[in-house]
Amino acid sequence: IGGENVSAERTLILVKPDGVARGLSGTILARVEAKGYSLVDLKLVHATREILEAHYAGHVGKPFYEPLVEFMLSGPVLAAVFEGERVIEGFRSLAGSTEPTTAAPGTIRGDLGRDWGLKVQQNLVHGSDSPESAEKEISIWFS
Ligand code: PPS
Repeated sequence: IGGENVSAERTLILVKPDGVARGLSGTILARVEAKGYSLVDLKLVHATREILEAHYAGHVGKPFYEPLVEFMLSGPVLAAVFEGERVIEGFRSLAGSTEPTTAAPGTIRGDLGRDWGLKVQQNLVHGSDSPESAEKEISIWFS
């Protein structure tokens, strides 16, 4: 299939602590693979504050920053690198919008997520939002 070359785009995908705790890691990885992207690296990590401060550096000062970091520290995260033409955009489309309650059905967040009455959005997954972020985030999680 396809005519992909060695410069195919890569992205960092995280299954957040809610996804791992609910036993959805395999389902989520399978959905990304089923769309046609290739898994190139994978590990289960209990993130440190240092990793998260680097990962979320662009969000310091936003009201959700500290609750988000606390949530990401609450349990293990599955970190994955996927590859494929336009994978950054493709995964974000597959993930759905930030709030799982209103994310479109057919997306990972829309099909598998909801609000659980907490202030923090437990929205199952993260995906890099640009080639620059992807490069930075892959080096943070897979250094
Ligand atoms: S922004 O401000 O437009 O950049 O925000 P957005 O792109 O929607 O979200 C950036 C990341 O913050 C997460 N987020 C939240 N987490 C928990 N609680 C709340 N209320 C919240 N709002 C935004 C959002 O999921 C993004 O994190 P990642 O890990 O990239 O998904």
